[in-house]
Amino acid sequence: SAKYVADFRVWRGSPAGGGLEDFKVAVNEGEVVLDVIHRLQATQAPDLAVRWNCKAGKCGSCSAEINGRPRLLCMTRMSTFTPSDTITVTPLRAFPVVRDLVTDVSFNYEKAREVPAFVPPEGVAPGEYRMRQVDVERSQEFRKCIECFLCQDTCHVVRDHEENKTAFAGPRFLMRIAELDMHPLDAAAESGLDRRRTAQEEHGLGYCNITKCCTEVCPEHIKITDNALIPLKERAADRKYDPLVWLGDKIRRR
Ligand code: SF4
Ligand code: F3S
Ligand code: FES
Repeated sequence: SAKYVADFRVWRGSPAGGGLEDFKVAVNEGEVVLDVIHRLQATQAPDLAVRWNCKAGKCGSCSAEINGRPRLLCMTRMSTFTPSDTITVTPLRAFPVVRDLVTDVSFNYEKAREVPAFVPPEGVAPGEYRMRQVDVERSQEFRKCIECFLCQDTCHVVRDHEENKTAFAGPRFLMRIAELDMHPLDAAAESGLDRRRTAQEEHGLGYCNITKCCTEVCPEHIKITDNALIPLKERAADRKYDPLVWLGDKIRRR
């Protein structure tokens, strides 16, 4: 569509409080929401805080909510809306506001640190790892994650339940545990770390009731629920009552 003036409603404020402010901003053909936010900064609200970096959907910085839906500002085309729509832009709801559209996402860094790293197999040097192509592809899907945390923001387990945050790692980090648990060369079990049991007992896998909202908002179209969370749940359930079964299985697979 050609050039027009759009109605924008943007949340302004700080941890102390804030509210929605209305603006009329010019829109050009082919623009994304971030372009319009930048024009708003340039013309009417120079102190508007917004986090962004790549403008290409790859850095994961520009996460916010547009009309209540978690999205990347740089990947949401203005052509998604009609010129008569009011476009409401608010900060990620599950994380504390720093200022305006910028939130403090350190919850996610804390959760990342709680997931034990890949345990290299003994006696195999890096560069000598050999894996079946199907196992490589499985990991590769999960490694497309740009850490935008839109999935973490949307999951109902924490979205309106601050009290669940200590017990629940969220879809992005349960996916990381699934990736490691499915990795044929991960030697966690041999070193005494049962990733499936800790997924349940320490990272809150049981809180996920597979609503798939995380998958719906993922800008990388990773099938978080179907390919990571459900398989991890199945693997955790199989082994739950017999620790020797999982250890035996883990050793046999190598
Ligand atoms: Fe973002 Fe998808 Fe990674 Fe979640 S899994 S942080 S939605 S890229
Ligand atoms: Fe939450 Fe995704 Fe499970 S939205 S409940 S982690 S399927
Ligand atoms: Fe990098 Fe949007 S600015 S993902």
